Amino acid sequence: MNESHLRSDPSIALPAVVITGATEGIGRALAEEFARDGHALVLVARDHAKLAKTAEELGRSHGVEVKVTAQDLSTPEGCAGVEQAARGFGFYAEYLVNNAGIMSSGFFQDEDPATVRRIVDLNVRAMVDLTMRFLPGMLARSRGGVLNVSSMMGYMPVPYQATYAASKAFILSFSKALAYETRGTGVKVSVVAPGVVATELHDKAGAQNSRYLVWFPPLTPEQVASKAYRRFKRGWSVTLPGIINPLGAFAARFTPDFALIPLMGWFFRLRDDDRNVLWPRPLEKPPESKRAPEPKRLEPAD
Ligand SMILES: NC(=O)c1ccc[n+]([C@@H]2O[C@H](COP(=O)([O-])OP(=O)(O)OC[C@H]3O[C@@H](n4cnc5c(N)ncnc54)[C@H](OP(=O)(O)O)[C@@H]3O)[C@@H](O)[C@H]2O)c1
Repeated sequence: MNESHLRSDPSIALPAVVITGATEGIGRALAEEFARDGHALVLVARDHAKLAKTAEELGRSHGVEVKVTAQDLSTPEGCAGVEQAARGFGFYAEYLVNNAGIMSSGFFQDEDPATVRRIVDLNVRAMVDLTMRFLPGMLARSRGGVLNVSSMMGYMPVPYQATYAASKAFILSFSKALAYETRGTGVKVSVVAPGVVATELHDKAGAQNSRYLVWFPPLTPEQVASKAYRRFKRGWSVTLPGIINPLGAFAARFTPDFALIPLMGWFFRLRDDDRNVLWPRPLEKPPESKRAPEPKRLEPAD
């Protein structure tokens, strides 16, 4: 279960499932689904201790080979590291699960810029990067597939989680287009768009007091993973787990933005521990002298 076991002869490469964000929540539950079916796994996350523990538990419960690689996927080097590690373990990616994702919440101008950039880098860029690295091999072998994890939030603009929701809309659009492109190739591309799932994601984003967590009943990661896995294996291109989510996605498509966006704003507005809504931090006007000069008007030439 460590990174030192190398099989350098590519002719004996074996199939495995590369799963990102596999130590907790939905990723962990998806790893369980694949392992239960006898798939070897390559698990990816940043925390090596959690990865080693997860690999040990999955290997022991399901008798499959589980390797781990600790990578920060919000960096290009992290994505390259996954490909190198999988090859080093003597595996090729039969399946890729792009699950790792982070969320942040609040008024956009008050959010930590590094976190906002990381959302785009992890949720969007790493998902495209890993797909680019592994999909061509699957197409050449005419087998395998990519399962991407989007969200119900991908179906609508969401105030106070603007970047996260937009990143999930990207994943939905990208996955549906690739599912079409890969028809008839033997390779499946699929996307799962869960609603609220009972994981640490919302607390990590500081959204634990928002109304959506009170109003939208959560599914468990296991419920989401079980449905996503079965549908993925059967070749469905989109999975909306639960009963309410398909209705929500349908309603979002036919509700005009003037009603949908304020409604989402009400659900997703940040609140403090006493349930008071939070307001944006007052921003200082830059002093006059530091403002950019007005552009000069060009006089028409005589
Ligand atoms: N929970 C929900 O309500 C919900 C709903 C819809 C969609 N989703 C989506 O489902 C996916 C999983 O969410 P979750 O709720 O299961 O999250 P989670 O419980 O917070 O788990 C996130 C996983 O991603 C890993 N990760 C985070 N940053 C990473 C990075 N920079 N590089 C590599 N790995 C990283 C974490 O491990 P390390 O911290 O060790 O890196 C962890 O294994 C996300 O894409 C999320 O957007 C969640």
